[in-house]
Amino acid sequence: MRGEKKSELNDGSGAASPCTAARNPCNPCAAGSKSRRKISDEEAGRLFAALLPELRALYAKGAHPAVRLDWTRWKNFVRSPYIAETHGERYAVNLANEVAARVYGKFRNLKEMPVGGVIAKPSFTVDAAGRPAPGPLYIMEKMPKGWNPGTADWRYAMILPGGQTWGMTKGVNSAGMKFCHECHVGAKDNDYLFFAEEEYFRRK
Ligand code: HEC
Repeated sequence: MRGEKKSELNDGSGAASPCTAARNPCNPCAAGSKSRRKISDEEAGRLFAALLPELRALYAKGAHPAVRLDWTRWKNFVRSPYIAETHGERYAVNLANEVAARVYGKFRNLKEMPVGGVIAKPSFTVDAAGRPAPGPLYIMEKMPKGWNPGTADWRYAMILPGGQTWGMTKGVNSAGMKFCHECHVGAKDNDYLFFAEEEYFRRK
């Protein structure tokens, strides 16, 4: 069941993605999945809440403008952290700023994200002993019309725990970030947004 849903989300894009390659760019500092422990949704929620201040402080050491925003207060559209297979198999949540939150809950009826909409996706891993460790912050920002036709004006970014910007569309390591949009193209009917599996996504 769950496997089927996942392949639906990743329709047609997984095979070519660098995320499935041996050296996974979504995964520059992750614990290997063998040492990962499967935990309950409740436990994942508790770990995330406890880790949140640390995540915020770690990302904020960096230079990306979004890390200065108080994304910890943005609306969380998933009912608990879930394993984002396509983002290094880390636990993640999807948070929307005020502009994005107006439309993100439309789920697959969403047609267009307004300019200024930002979705932040902080992540973490859990080791075999059940201890959480910070993962990267993934960001999608809708820039003004015409900013970058190649990504439908989305600016993708990945911030490592510690603040370093691993890559940003039209910024540092822009070429290394192409794979983000190449996979998100699979969701072009919803302005390149994949949301989350239905069982985790909150429509309001
Ligand atoms: C192989 C496909 C794939 C790749 C590569 C990928 N993503 Fe995603 N992305 C998804 C899927 C599927 C979801 C929704 C489910 C989930 O979170 O796993 C998603 C969700 C997101 C979200 C939440 C917004 C939304 O609803 O789509 C953000 C932000 C995001 N990705 C950023 C990135 C960034 C930044 C990169 C590159 C570093 C990236 N993604 C690479 C497939 C991908």
